[in-house]
Amino acid sequence: MFRTDGPTFFELARQALSSTEGGYDLLATKFDATPFRTPDVLLAPFFRHVFAEGSVERALDVACGTGAQVLHLAPYVTRRLVGVDFSQGMLEEAKRRTAHLPRPVELLKADARELPFKEAFELVTSAGAFGHFVGDDEERLLEGVHRALVPGGRFVFLTTPMPPRTSPARWVARSFNAAMHLRNALVSPPFVMFYLTFTWPEVKPVLERHGFEATAHDGLVPGRLSKVVAVTATKR
Ligand SMILES: C[S@@+](CC[C@H](N)C(=O)[O-])C[C@H]1O[C@@H](n2cnc3c(N)ncnc32)[C@H](O)[C@@H]1O
Repeated sequence: MFRTDGPTFFELARQALSSTEGGYDLLATKFDATPFRTPDVLLAPFFRHVFAEGSVERALDVACGTGAQVLHLAPYVTRRLVGVDFSQGMLEEAKRRTAHLPRPVELLKADARELPFKEAFELVTSAGAFGHFVGDDEERLLEGVHRALVPGGRFVFLTTPMPPRTSPARWVARSFNAAMHLRNALVSPPFVMFYLTFTWPEVKPVLERHGFEATAHDGLVPGRLSKVVAVTATKR
């Protein structure tokens, strides 16, 4: 839910009429007071699952935003921790929120569709951002993640199953997507944000085509978020 210190309706409207990157720049200082930030109640069990077999030396969080995942990764990453985002505003917030960490975090402004790494990490994570990567952008994201991992490295991310056809959630999401297509047909630059992307198990063959073996783990948390799954895609 939006908190009282979150963005106003007019601020949200202004953001929605910007580019994706510009929209996040505008939202950055209030982002953590919106429901768009992945909640810690989900991230805590997610990262316990990710690190069930111990720490890693090097990890990357893609589309790190204000640092939600980076903060949870920090205790488990022993040598190099990198967060990448293309919004300078979001990175500034992430810098503020991670300044107290004992080991410095590298927060880089880069486009996740052109990740500038080769066999540099044992672990890549991402959450809350797949709605920004559709069509060719999804392909480019996965190519870059695959390239960034060492052989046997893991890409671990949060997603949801596709809601059943009869579910109101599915029709709300489809209506939102239709509105975004209309907005992008009428207003330039586009704001790329769509629901029901990267759903599990639909994303499994896509991951396999990009050189990963993928499995999913459900039941991270009870209640409202109980459908969220953690997908582990291991580089072949
Ligand atoms: C909804 S926020 C999620 C942030 C954070 N991962 C979380 O879970 O709270 C989506 C983030 O993706 C970033 N993003 C979207 N498209 C991107 C791209 N092509 N390259 C890098 N970052 C991108 C946005 O700037 C934004 O910070």
